[in-house]
Amino acid sequence: MNYQWYPGHMTKAKRMMEENIKLIDLIIELVDARIPLSSRNPDIDQLGKNKSRLILLNKSDLADQRYNKQWMEYFKEKGFYVVEVNAKSGSGIKSIQGVVQEACKEKIERDRKRGILNRPIRAMVVGIPNVGKSTFINSFAGKACTKTGNKPGVTKGKQWIRLNKGLELLDTPGILWPKFEDQAVGMKLAFIGSMNDEILHVDELALDLIKFLVENYVSVLKERFEIEDTRDALKILEKIAEKRNCYKKGQELDLMKASSILIDEFRCGKVGRITLEFPQVNE
Ligand code: G4P
Repeated sequence: MNYQWYPGHMTKAKRMMEENIKLIDLIIELVDARIPLSSRNPDIDQLGKNKSRLILLNKSDLADQRYNKQWMEYFKEKGFYVVEVNAKSGSGIKSIQGVVQEACKEKIERDRKRGILNRPIRAMVVGIPNVGKSTFINSFAGKACTKTGNKPGVTKGKQWIRLNKGLELLDTPGILWPKFEDQAVGMKLAFIGSMNDEILHVDELALDLIKFLVENYVSVLKERFEIEDTRDALKILEKIAEKRNCYKKGQELDLMKASSILIDEFRCGKVGRITLEFPQVNE
């Protein structure tokens, strides 16, 4: 299968992002903890040079705990501030405020030397579609936040959410688009549901996922679907179909249905906490 990303309103999104980046001190970039590299668009490093950078390893509840730690180290070594979060449950969110202050300490110091006191840090949330930007903004800003509305000197229509005296958040997140030439990256984006499912062959996707699980999480696969023989991906899919009672009229197995079930269960974490890519030393 050929994995493709529909560019959609990519150019518009990029232009908006360029405009918004001028207004902010800090970029809060969400990545998916299951695919921390494949869910990034590397252009953000160019767009965001000279800005403070914070990476949130989101959906960490769905990813393998061992690798969450390794990915944190990986990004820290690259000079990013990093926090592991679950935007849905709110886990990890409380620690962000302190990290933001730390990430922006140079700006705070610069302001202080110029005699500017208490100018809030301005931040923008960015990430690929479905990575959890809106969920995060809601969780981070909470109900207590107040929208500051338009301000003189700020492009018309921009809304800032005042989290506290020291921090304001642009209320519209920046949408990054996944970028890949490598089909393996496309496949991982498809596994987590960040690719338009309508263009995918669900059975082929399921077989690719099974192959990955056999190689990397064989015990998880065996346990969940009570599979013994893991040599042949198609046979495993047939077993899953049997286990989940997927039959067409007659007694023919419905492999498409079984594929959808496997992918859905994977995406919501029922198969287990699974990381799809691993940090390489010296990468
Ligand atoms: P976006 O703005 O970046 O496009 O993403 P959005 O916040 O809409 O989140 C996309 C989906 O990811 C939502 O699920 C959301 O609940 C889920 N999500 C966000 N953060 C986390 C997380 O840390 N862990 C988990 N497990 N899920 C997360 P949905 O199915 O679209 O909605 P719902 O069923 O949760 O209501």
